[in-house]
Amino acid sequence: MNMDKIVCNCMSVTNGMIKDAVDSGADTLEEVQEITGAGTVCGACLDDVQHLVDFFVEERGK
Ligand code: FES
Repeated sequence: MNMDKIVCNCMSVTNGMIKDAVDSGADTLEEVQEITGAGTVCGACLDDVQHLVDFFVEERGK
């Protein structure tokens, strides 16, 4: 995965920033939104952000 790829254009949040938020303890979309701001403006990225949160939470558990 390209960690520098932007998932949320409104807030310029990258895949890597979502991963960092999850690695620092966030477990849910809401927590990641609070930490990164991803998905808090237009909402168009929400499905993608949710998908990434689920993926990184799963990875973290391995
Ligand atoms: S693209 Fe993420 S809130 Fe607009």
